[in-house]
Amino acid sequence: MPRPIEALIHPAAMAHNLACVRAAEPDARLWAVVKANAYGHGIERAFEGLRSADGFALLDLAEAERIRALGWRGPVLLLEGVFEPRDLELCSRLGLWHVVHHSAQIDWLAAHKTQQPHRVFLKMNSGMNRLGFAPHSYRSAWARLEALPQVDEISLMTHFSDADGPRGIAHQVQSFVRHSEGLAGERCLSNSAAVLRHGSGALRNDWVRAGIISYGSAPDFPQRSAADWGLLPAMTLRSQLIATQDLQAGDTVGYGSSYTAGGAQRIGIVACGYADGYPRHCGTGTPMLVDGVRCSTVGRVSMDMLAVDLSLAPNAGVGSDVTLWGEGPGGALLGIDEVALAGATIGYELMCALAARVPVRVSDLQHHLSS
Ligand SMILES: Cc1ncc(COP(=O)(O)O)c(C=O)c1O
Repeated sequence: MPRPIEALIHPAAMAHNLACVRAAEPDARLWAVVKANAYGHGIERAFEGLRSADGFALLDLAEAERIRALGWRGPVLLLEGVFEPRDLELCSRLGLWHVVHHSAQIDWLAAHKTQQPHRVFLKMNSGMNRLGFAPHSYRSAWARLEALPQVDEISLMTHFSDADGPRGIAHQVQSFVRHSEGLAGERCLSNSAAVLRHGSGALRNDWVRAGIISYGSAPDFPQRSAADWGLLPAMTLRSQLIATQDLQAGDTVGYGSSYTAGGAQRIGIVACGYADGYPRHCGTGTPMLVDGVRCSTVGRVSMDMLAVDLSLAPNAGVGSDVTLWGEGPGGALLGIDEVALAGATIGYELMCALAARVPVRVSDLQHHLSS
């Protein structure tokens, strides 16, 4: 028998989450962001759940080829554009749209021989200071692109650094609006946090870029949870108990003896460790479901195992079902964001870090999807 750990991917939950994006931004077209192998879910596995999107936004040519191989003929956007001139050949061949964020990318386009003019998304650095043209050079970059026969349509884009937090987006929107005023082209501004927290037509968004919400994690946890936003988990990580231990007062658990039992206590050993992608930084008290009952970890996470307190699940034993995140038996949900917070990280990282050794299966949520 293989080790009992597995990840389940839930396409219908992704479709539900995209419907939440549509409700929040009814007038915008929607990019499903599938970079990092669909945030760890697998592009091919996620495709059915996300195909109601208007396009797929991703990072590299290999991912774009995979989307085309699935039969997708609609828009595909390279979020960082091309990395070298010859990438433009594949853009022409596969009909890819691409971000232009620095002037060498314009030079490469100017030298590119193609029969098919490209659609580009011109990116402004409105304050994130990661990619994009400075606001004062944005207009001239637009004019250079506009003059190129290799370009047919220019969309205007920026990315928010604080859409999930107290600083908000107003300072970046102000800069973007001021320096793009009068320039023709569709606007593409919002990521997940902006869709949820600054949506409903507050901004001009012809396109929004929905990443993390598509996968059922809250961009602004712990202020709001995925459940608060009506999102459903697109991934469940589950395993089983492979041993139990009866502790006495003073007994310790795991490497470094970081947990000491205060009295008699029963614990379970779960077949899941940091080599499966479970964060090692999750200390004692991290939530987990055992047979659908909320319990918590004790001691340090090791490579292949971790320990859980069974005080609240006295009937659990070897073979009991453990939900590390996602949907448990009976429909109990454990948000990936709660586990991430306990490990001082974010849901994004846990999804993306699911280890290659974990078998993955597509299986929809057993509860929570009404139709
Ligand atoms: C340019 C760009 N747009 C959109 C996204 C999607 O962000 P989120 O997953 O927060 O929706 C990302 C992700 O990092 C990004 O880099």
